[in-house]
Amino acid sequence: MSLPLTGQFPAYRPRRLRQSAALRRLVAETSLSRHQLVLPLFVRPGRRQRRAIGAMPGVFQLSVDELLVETERAVSAGVPAVLLFGIPEKKDAKASGAHARTGIVQQAVRALKKEFPELLVITDVCLCEYMSHGHCGVVHHEPGRATIANDPTLKLLAQTAVSHAEAGADLVAPSDMMDGRVRAIRAALDAKGFSDTPIMSYAAKYSSAFYGPFREAAESAPKFGDRRSYQMDAANAEEALREVALDLAEGADIVMVKPALAYLDIIHRVKTTFGYPTAAYSVSAEYSMIKAAAAKGWIDERAVTLESLLAMRRAGADILITYAAVDVAKWLKSEE
Ligand code: PBG
Repeated sequence: MSLPLTGQFPAYRPRRLRQSAALRRLVAETSLSRHQLVLPLFVRPGRRQRRAIGAMPGVFQLSVDELLVETERAVSAGVPAVLLFGIPEKKDAKASGAHARTGIVQQAVRALKKEFPELLVITDVCLCEYMSHGHCGVVHHEPGRATIANDPTLKLLAQTAVSHAEAGADLVAPSDMMDGRVRAIRAALDAKGFSDTPIMSYAAKYSSAFYGPFREAAESAPKFGDRRSYQMDAANAEEALREVALDLAEGADIVMVKPALAYLDIIHRVKTTFGYPTAAYSVSAEYSMIKAAAAKGWIDERAVTLESLLAMRRAGADILITYAAVDVAKWLKSEE
C-alpha cells in the first residue's frame, strides 16, 4: 500500500491537529465504547460464595446469587454482555456437568435471563472445567500415551451448546479448538430450533502462558500434558487465517482472537482478510500484569487498560472481552 500523498514540512505539520483535546477527539480514528465490552464471569455451586482468585484482584468465583449481584454492578455501569464459565460440583471423564440441564452454567443462564432480560448472555462452550483430567476434549488412552480425541469430543460440545441455548443463552462461544466443532454445534443448534443463536468461535486461540491465572479461576489446569496438540502455536499467523476461514465456512458468526495484546497482528489480519465481526479476548494474564504493576504504583491502571483496549480496536477488534469491563465502562462514562 502506498501512502496517500501529503504535503511536506512546513506545509504539512502533523502537530497542528494535536493542539486541543477537542481537536484530537475530532480527528481520532478509533474509539472505545461501553457497547463493545464483554465481562467474563465465573460461576460455582452454593450460596453466598464469593471466592477471590489470587492472581486476578477483583475477580471472583461466584455462586448464582452472588453472580446476580455482580451482574447488577456490570449492568448499571453499562456493560451489555457477559461471558459465563462454570466450575461444576463434580468433574468426571465424560464432562457430564457441561451438558446437564441442571449444570451450573445452565442454572446461571436461567437466573441471569430472568433478572436481566436485556443483558446478552454468552456461554463459553468447553469441557476442560468439567473433565477430571482438565483437557478440553475426550482423552483416548493408548499404551504409553494419552491423546485428545477430536471427533468423539464434537458430540459432547454440541450437546453442551444446545443445553446452553435451551437455558436461554443468547450466544454460544466454543473455546475447545477441536476441528469441526463449529459445524457440529451449528448443526445441533439448528436441529433443535436454535437457528438464530449465533456462534462466537474462539477461532484463533493460541496455546498461551497468558492463560495462567485463568486456570486457577476456572480450576481447569490439565492434570497431565498441555494443550499444544489442540491450541495454536504462537509461532504461526498464516495458520490463524486458515482456522478463521474454516470456522466461518462452518457457520461461525463472530470470530475471536485470543490472547489479544500479544496478538494484535493476528487481530489485524483476521479483520482485514475476512471483514467479519471480530472479538479480542484480553486474557487473564493481561489483566493480572496490569493489576500487579498498578498495585506497586509502577503504572497508571486506568490509562494502561484503556490504551491496551484502544490498541485492540485499532488493530481491528469490534468486541472487547475483558475482566476490567466494569471499570472500563465507568471510566468511559466519566470521560463523556
Ligand atoms: C477454556 C478456556 C481458557 C480460557 C478461556 N477458555 C483456558 C485454556 O484454554 O486453558 C482462558 C481465558 C483467560 O486466560 O482469561 N478452554
